[in-house]
Amino acid sequence: MSNESIVSDRSSDHLIIFDTTLRDGEQSPGASMTKDEKVRIAKALEKMRVDVIEAGFPIASPGDFESVKAVASVIKNSTVCGLARALEKDIQRAGDALKPAASSRIHTFIATSPIHMKMKLRMHPDDVLAQAVASVKMARQFTGDVEFSPEDAGRSETDFLCRIIEAVIDAGATTINIPDTVGYNIPHQFGHLIQTLLERIPNSDKAIFSVHCHNDLGLAVGNSLSAVLNGARQVECTINGLGERAGNASLEEIVMAVRTRQDVFSCDTLLDATQIVPCSKLVSGITGFPVQPNKAIVGANAFAHESGIHQDGILKSRETYEIMRAQDVGWSDNRMVLGKHSGRNAFKSRLKELNIELSTEHELNEAFARFKELADKKHEIFDEDLTALVADTNWSIENEHYKLVSLRVCSETGEIPNASLVLEIGGNEVNASASGGGPVDASFRAIESVVNSGAQLQLYSVNNITSGTDAQGEVTVRLESGGRIVSGQGADTDIVIASANAYVNALNKLSNSDQREHPQLGDV
Ligand code: KIV
Ligand code: ZN
Repeated sequence: MSNESIVSDRSSDHLIIFDTTLRDGEQSPGASMTKDEKVRIAKALEKMRVDVIEAGFPIASPGDFESVKAVASVIKNSTVCGLARALEKDIQRAGDALKPAASSRIHTFIATSPIHMKMKLRMHPDDVLAQAVASVKMARQFTGDVEFSPEDAGRSETDFLCRIIEAVIDAGATTINIPDTVGYNIPHQFGHLIQTLLERIPNSDKAIFSVHCHNDLGLAVGNSLSAVLNGARQVECTINGLGERAGNASLEEIVMAVRTRQDVFSCDTLLDATQIVPCSKLVSGITGFPVQPNKAIVGANAFAHESGIHQDGILKSRETYEIMRAQDVGWSDNRMVLGKHSGRNAFKSRLKELNIELSTEHELNEAFARFKELADKKHEIFDEDLTALVADTNWSIENEHYKLVSLRVCSETGEIPNASLVLEIGGNEVNASASGGGPVDASFRAIESVVNSGAQLQLYSVNNITSGTDAQGEVTVRLESGGRIVSGQGADTDIVIASANAYVNALNKLSNSDQREHPQLGDV
């Protein structure tokens, strides 16, 4: 493992982008991802030129460990980071997972707010400080790039923050991250905190100051930008603002705010912004968290001008109503890329252009067979259709314990809808049927009648992938069972089939029992 940090020699006009979609993003209930999905997202982040990718929390579970290791093995141009509580066993595990990395970082943290130290840790502040220093020293034995976070810094006492940060920098921390863990801060106050820390801590010039803001009051991006204006040179953020509770600061908003307002910011990122929309779609497709249409930068309406006055203005001069160009963040016109007569090579090369890699010939064959089925039902196949189709194929190949073989629904005015289906369970076909309030309800009941998962349905949503009545419906189903929450997805031109597949996909994830520990509810 190299001790050289990719980011260490960057000048202060470089704003470091630290993406935590794979770690904090995955802490959103239902957003868990498989190892292969994480690798796909990590590759997309690398292509976008993200500086640091927080790939996970290796001690959390064997699955998390393997995912961080897999990301560390394939990523060459971004630093790969692993999270560790300020505990020897966590740091050891993170160090082990990061061994294959070309450039690695260990991110260790301990809470510093009075409420967290007293109620959660039950530790005296002096002991918290000593544990932080010991952890940073231990992490330095694995890599020269060590980040320390005083958790809940946004509600910590400034004097104590100054004391602990000075001590961990002396112990070898190269990045100091200031988290607003509960999203409590207000921009001018948070900016002032960063300025105060930079001014008061005698060795603050020996580390890069970073921020990590949560969005509980909708201020994660505002707080992060205020911190940047006051000297922070790393922002921790996630694609689509995914993350614990209301989420983290959204990467696309941070990057485009700084880039669009270069008259205000004295730094910029190295990001290739044209990768933003593809990355957003990839993350949304994999996690099943749809992007709201009016979401800045990546929402479907972010560049749509409905009003006649706006459209007229745009036609005369784009700048009248547009401060950014849609193509600069990766929006392209929906292109009819493939159709019924497209061959395997055309299919393969379009996937390549979309940066979608299928690792085996078997995966390619499966995906191509599904493409042909889809092309029979739908004349025009768009990029979005291909992305959904491949996400579906990858999942099925990796983890299919349950598989929907066939489904028949009867729905008629004045009659109770009924579904009969054949489900494959561990290789054996079983028949099931049930009635319900509607065809989707009947299908879910039929599946449950043979699976008996007892899971609670927390969310059911349908979105059209492209426009038109022959569009595929993309269904997300969120299930809860025994405290675990998973999301399943399915896409099909028939939304009842898409729904049944989404339900089966969620059941497969539930049966895949990689129990994970939550970093912030642990035993530090
Ligand atoms: O929100 C938070 O405080 C975190 C830390 C682990 C940095 O995610
Ligand atoms: Zn966080």
